[in-house]
Amino acid sequence: MRLRNIPGAREEMLVNPYVVHDPEACRGRWQEFFGNQNPIHLEIGTGKGRFLTELAAKNPDINFLGMEKYASVLLRAVQKQEALALPNLRFLCADAKDLEALFSDGEIARIYLNFSDPWPKDRHAKRRLTACNFLELYARVLSSQGALAFKTDNRPLFDFSLAQAKEACWRVEDITYDLHESPFAPDNIMTEYEERFSSLGNPICRFLAHPR
Ligand SMILES: C[S@@+](CC[C@H](N)C(=O)[O-])C[C@H]1O[C@@H](n2cnc3c(N)ncnc32)[C@H](O)[C@@H]1O
Repeated sequence: MRLRNIPGAREEMLVNPYVVHDPEACRGRWQEFFGNQNPIHLEIGTGKGRFLTELAAKNPDINFLGMEKYASVLLRAVQKQEALALPNLRFLCADAKDLEALFSDGEIARIYLNFSDPWPKDRHAKRRLTACNFLELYARVLSSQGALAFKTDNRPLFDFSLAQAKEACWRVEDITYDLHESPFAPDNIMTEYEERFSSLGNPICRFLAHPR
């Protein structure tokens, strides 16, 4: 994502009521944080938040957390939530590599990765959010029935991700190379990137994977 620095974004993220300011303190207590026993779903790299905001509005019995590395990007997601004030949606300005400091084992029911940065150079493969080193982290924080839902229009990244999931012995299902023409299309919620790339004619690939 091309990043435009927005002056004051970091400061705003420090005080905004929809951003969790001390997420490490919620480790192992996220349901308590939301004040219910509903499952926790996490989107990593939430970007401007369209996907998660729409998903949270449609699923009031699930608690949603959107994790985004950059405050300037997260600001856009938070602005959508400010208009809706959904009780089941909060955001974290955090990096996926710190996942274990934020969530205890088995605390998350589902992780969403949407249009993750492809890091096309081989030497950067470990930075891809579907690389085995990240799958290992996800396997720890996902519950016994937990799953990772991944979508992208980037075919090399998709093939890499499938191969990594298989290498890590994850069970992969619901694979499609053209999500919008697949039986999963009616339940699909578009992300900002998905809208942009599908309007260019790029088919969207998607899978669901279980670590156990
Ligand atoms: C290509 S954008 C996609 C945004 C959104 N998911 C969409 O589909 O429209 C990828 C996003 O992931 C964020 N990101 C990349 N690496 C991350 C990490 N390690 N932890 C958290 N967010 C990350 C980037 O800052 C960027 O906003």
